[in-house]
Amino acid sequence: MADQLRGWRCIEPLLLFLLLETLWGAGAGQIRYSVLEELDKGSFVGNIAKDLGLEPRELAERGVRIVSRGRTQLFALNPQSGSLVTTGRIDREELCAHSAPCLVSFNILVENNMKMYGVEIEIIDINDNFPRFRDEEVKVKVNENAATGTRLVLPFARDADVSVNSLQSYQLSRNMHFSLDEKSGADGQKYPELVLERPLDREKVAVHDLFLTALDGGDPVLSSTMHIRVMVLDANDNAPLFTRSEYRVSVPENIPVGTRLLTLTATDPDEGTNGELTYSFCNEEDKISGTFKLDSNLGEISTLQSLDYEESRFYFMEVVAQDGGALLASAKVLITVQDVNDNAPEVILTSLASSISEDCPPGTIIALFSVHDGDSGENGEILCSIPRNLPFKLEKSVDNYYHLLTTKGLDREEISDYNITVSVIDRGNPPLSTESHISLTVADINDNPPIFPHTSYSTYILENNPRGISILSVTAHDPDSGNNAKVIYSLAEDTFQGMPLSSYVSINSNTGILYALGSFDYEQVKDLQLWVMASDSGDLPLRSNMSLSLFVLDQNDNAPEILYPSIPTDGSTGVELAPRSAEPGYL
Ligand SMILES: *[C@@H]1O[C@H](CO)[C@@H](O)[C@H](O)[C@H]1NC(C)=O
Ligand SMILES: *[C@@H]1O[C@H](CO)[C@@H](O)[C@H](O)[C@H]1NC(C)=O
Repeated sequence: MADQLRGWRCIEPLLLFLLLETLWGAGAGQIRYSVLEELDKGSFVGNIAKDLGLEPRELAERGVRIVSRGRTQLFALNPQSGSLVTTGRIDREELCAHSAPCLVSFNILVENNMKMYGVEIEIIDINDNFPRFRDEEVKVKVNENAATGTRLVLPFARDADVSVNSLQSYQLSRNMHFSLDEKSGADGQKYPELVLERPLDREKVAVHDLFLTALDGGDPVLSSTMHIRVMVLDANDNAPLFTRSEYRVSVPENIPVGTRLLTLTATDPDEGTNGELTYSFCNEEDKISGTFKLDSNLGEISTLQSLDYEESRFYFMEVVAQDGGALLASAKVLITVQDVNDNAPEVILTSLASSISEDCPPGTIIALFSVHDGDSGENGEILCSIPRNLPFKLEKSVDNYYHLLTTKGLDREEISDYNITVSVIDRGNPPLSTESHISLTVADINDNPPIFPHTSYSTYILENNPRGISILSVTAHDPDSGNNAKVIYSLAEDTFQGMPLSSYVSINSNTGILYALGSFDYEQVKDLQLWVMASDSGDLPLRSNMSLSLFVLDQNDNAPEILYPSIPTDGSTGVELAPRSAEPGYL
């Protein structure tokens, strides 16, 4: 019979109620009723008087009462109507939880004949409970690289009701990635699971918000919904990516050390260490790592030492960005160094004639030098010049060599030393310049004879002079230098009154001092005509002369004396006869 009942469970409760009443009322010794849960107090359960074959009023007369085993009495007899009624609201779930059917049994005693009747009442479930999830929201984690078909266990819902009123199914909100599957446990509970249908990408959607609805089979259907947050856990599925494949920067060579030149940027959409990037030089060369510093965290490249365009015009390097999961990307960096006019031009003297003869022909090469500027372009273009007023000029030779040569004959006696300033200036902005000095000595040649201040000169000497007295000093000047200017004095050979002149006077060949060798006697020598010669000591000596007139001055050293007519020795008066033919002027 109980099995039969179970088979009817699906039948409309009211109909069931009617069937039971008629079936059990037939006097089977056991009275069965059924009643819906949650009815108001005093609701009719069954006509007990009729089922006992009594009139309602007989219930009291015969002492009919409910005998129970200490439990709270859920039912009572209504003596007026002779029916069994509820004493309060009955909650099937409280009474029976999930067991079905929910039966309450007790006995009815008819005191006057001591008869007992078993009464069994089935409490019929109504859909008064929602399916319920324990939490309103739940977080579920899944790896980003989980394979499709991966199953994620979800919390299940419970419904206190039984049978069709209990939980029947789940529904999942519409979404791209997940489907819903249910598993039934041995206990009849339905366990929902998410099934991954499509690969996930945390970098596109990191959290999937799903709504799981649990439904029962009541009428109306009751449901409740849980918010499921599917958290996609990062996998290192993205390599870093540089914003550019090549970075170029152009910097002047004179930037201070430590200047930041550029910042490399790579991105990695992964999370945490998978997205943390470190930068480094790839295939690091000493030249690069000695010159530049790459901040491994910031990707900044700055200088470690000063740049020199003249040393290196560009630097080419490769950098890598690596994430915490060892995925990497590389980029090229080209640093171009711009020339700055930081080098002054310089003059390098290759060869120099330290002295040059004054008779050299115009166009004689004096010096060969090269000019050089470390800079390039206009910064390295050099203009080279010397002062205009000098008898020299510059002539460009091969490459950046210059000849310095004479433009005309030189005269040592006019200018013996030149300090030639060679100016070099580059065309940079601002220009840099250097001055270099070439000193040149003009070598003497014997091109000037010694010169007396006068071509002729007169002097006097008193007669009776002491022997060896100096008469005068003559000087001839020779503008040449060295031996070419060393003057040697002499007297021209001649005779006077049959005696060589050198027996009267002599000259000191070095000093030009003229001495009287003997004592002059005016009465014998009144004047001397001399040639004083001056000669220099050059290889081919040059000479000049000066005529010198030396007059002897008379002193009163003789008594007057008649020379003619000679005094007659006989004491007579002297007679001088003049011939008749004597012409006027005859002495
Ligand atoms: C040449 O002249 C410059 C100044 O004009 C001077 O500094 C330098 O010392 C001179 N050189 C010589 C050898 O006299
Ligand atoms: C003196 O010099 C002149 C001109 O140089 C020359 O003609 C003359 O012969 C010289 N006299 C002597 C005595 O050397």
